[in-house]
Amino acid sequence: MNHTEIGNGIYWIGVHDYTTYLFEGMWPIDQEGINYNAYVVVDEKIALIDTVKSIKTDEYLANIKSVIGDRKPDYLIINHMEPDHSSSIAEVVAEYPDIQIIGNAKTFPIMKNFYGVDTNLLEVENGGTLDLGGRTLQFYMTPMVHWPESMVTFDTSTGTLFSMDVFGSYKATVGSIFDDENDIEAFEFPTYRYYATIVGKVTEMAKRSLNALAPLDIKVVCPSHGLVWRTHMNYLLDLWTRLANAETYPGVVIVYGTMYGNTRQSAEIIADQLKKDGVKKVIMYDVGVTNISYILADIWKYQGLIMGAPAYYGQIFPPMQNLLYKLSGNKVRNHICAFFTEYSWSGGAERFFQEFMDKTGAVVTADIVKVQGAPDKNDTIALKTLAKSVAMEIGKN
Ligand code: FEO
Repeated sequence: MNHTEIGNGIYWIGVHDYTTYLFEGMWPIDQEGINYNAYVVVDEKIALIDTVKSIKTDEYLANIKSVIGDRKPDYLIINHMEPDHSSSIAEVVAEYPDIQIIGNAKTFPIMKNFYGVDTNLLEVENGGTLDLGGRTLQFYMTPMVHWPESMVTFDTSTGTLFSMDVFGSYKATVGSIFDDENDIEAFEFPTYRYYATIVGKVTEMAKRSLNALAPLDIKVVCPSHGLVWRTHMNYLLDLWTRLANAETYPGVVIVYGTMYGNTRQSAEIIADQLKKDGVKKVIMYDVGVTNISYILADIWKYQGLIMGAPAYYGQIFPPMQNLLYKLSGNKVRNHICAFFTEYSWSGGAERFFQEFMDKTGAVVTADIVKVQGAPDKNDTIALKTLAKSVAMEIGKN
């Protein structure tokens, strides 16, 4: 049983998850864990805002009771139907049969399909309101951030925005949930990783939603993951504006795949030349070893992207193909790119890089360098030239 008072009748009743191995079945949660934040607003009427992943339903229900005791919540507001926030809905209804569920036109079909819950529903529209007695909640649609039915809830009397996935991050809070009682810098990379994996493909929609919410006088941000923000509001807004606009920092990410080390040799030659040419921030990833969520995060952050992979039976090394697939959705806006390949008897990888360039409109500084076997003297010259062409552009935008 656990809750944290945020103030003005608002309480955090979320949970921490350290046991799920892969978020969305793809992205490691690691030892850092993740929060499923949920909230309750207590006034003349009581509104629950979102639930938690079903592995923590009992804890969530206990958290509710720790705040409201024997009172019954009047409303369950569903900002988002992804199961990390919605998969305790049926149990809430079982516990509180008279509760009215608030959602929008796109919420309820998903709810019925997932959980068979289709009664006692109250549909709201963009700008719609709900009177809790002492205060009014207002709803704003944020479609595709991160699902079609996504919306946020704004408490107009306290300036508290229940922002759902917007302003969220990986990494569970330890102890305090508040930004001013935490090292907020420690949440920056988890935020980049969260953004690149969850929001990256729909960043234009995120930008639209941030613009739509900008006129609100927001004093506290209560997202569905990560910290509750009540002090460092400018930091949060700057970070998310930067994320949504895909603004990059000077630096280069080199991603390579390798079976026997030859492609890594090429990557090392490139990294060395970048450093010689003044690029201090060079991050290198082996795509066969590192989950792509970490790679995507740094690609979102840094301006330079150099990718290299061997051919694999006339195609491309499969882990690199996986990265290219996700990256084609995220796109490489504001990036300077270059590519190199490795092959033993025939090529094939370069075709995939070319398709990626064509699909994303990547800005490329050099022709693809194709290395046969281990890089020889001429290959080394070509790889250094490729590195120089990227280094020349870093820091220009
Ligand atoms: Fe945390 Fe899109 O759910």
